[in-house]
Amino acid sequence: KSPSPAAAEAKSEAAKSVKIGIYFATWWALNVVFNIYNKKVLNAYPYPWLTSTLSLACGSLMMLVSWATKIAEPPKINLEFWKALFPVAVAHTIGHVAATVSMSKVAVSFTHIIKSGEPAFSVIVSRFLLGERFPPAVYLSLVPIIGGCGLAALTEPNFNMTGFMGAMISNLAFVFRNIFSKKGMKGKSVSGMNYYACLSMLSLLILTPFAIAVEGAHMWAAGWKEAVSEIGPQFIWWVAAQSIFYHLYNQVSYMSLDEISPLTFSVGNTMKRISVIVSSIIIFRTPVQPINALGAAIAILGTFLYSQAKA
Ligand code: 3PG
Repeated sequence: KSPSPAAAEAKSEAAKSVKIGIYFATWWALNVVFNIYNKKVLNAYPYPWLTSTLSLACGSLMMLVSWATKIAEPPKINLEFWKALFPVAVAHTIGHVAATVSMSKVAVSFTHIIKSGEPAFSVIVSRFLLGERFPPAVYLSLVPIIGGCGLAALTEPNFNMTGFMGAMISNLAFVFRNIFSKKGMKGKSVSGMNYYACLSMLSLLILTPFAIAVEGAHMWAAGWKEAVSEIGPQFIWWVAAQSIFYHLYNQVSYMSLDEISPLTFSVGNTMKRISVIVSSIIIFRTPVQPINALGAAIAILGTFLYSQAKA
């Protein structure tokens, strides 16, 4: 006997939830590994412009090989696609390098506490630059987000202005990335995986000359020697791990964006930050003061209230 339509629908809903659950768990796990290796590399080798470039280069190479060997179907794209992608790539590049510069200066947990304030930037940009209006509950949810981030920043024992500003600039850039991305993806039949691959390649082209200008081969070579003598030859595996995991977590996040609404995505992203904050505090033995943790908790609670208010 065939199942009733209601039972079949319930089954497909359950299968969808399991699929999204698997995407989320994979995304968070990959992100935690990226953050840990990225910080281990930055502690020994403080060249965030180079490590950001290597992450993009590694992802671009992985995708070119996947296309060439037909592991992934290459996208059918034209010049229009690249033109629409350009502003997304500029924002992605700025957001990526700014977050990495931030993590080179402060604890990973601090960068991610400030990055949990991204919804506040989204509302402010949408309201003042795009003229969008929101219900009062959305504006109210910004109070705990901004207040919590502010409290965490004020009570951060190892506060550093570059670290703080890097995370703030990253928030702003990623809001623009999401706005441009939505426009650029409209009506296009490029999968999330291939969209992110093209984004990495274009960002790599944009970032490379700036990385050379800001840091440069001279510094990189001298720093590399020091890092290898301090850490040993396994240092190269740390660099490889941070680069590979950077690509993988972003790829999975763009793949899940194909399946879920931007709102579910932003809730998932906030929960991802909680796993990064907690795991990095444990692994790097970051000292935590109760008042500082309270600020982080208020900010994160605010992002949940924001998603509820927007829903
Ligand atoms: C980066 O290097 O791009 C940031 O760590 C990414 O931040 P995200 O957690 O917002 O992806």
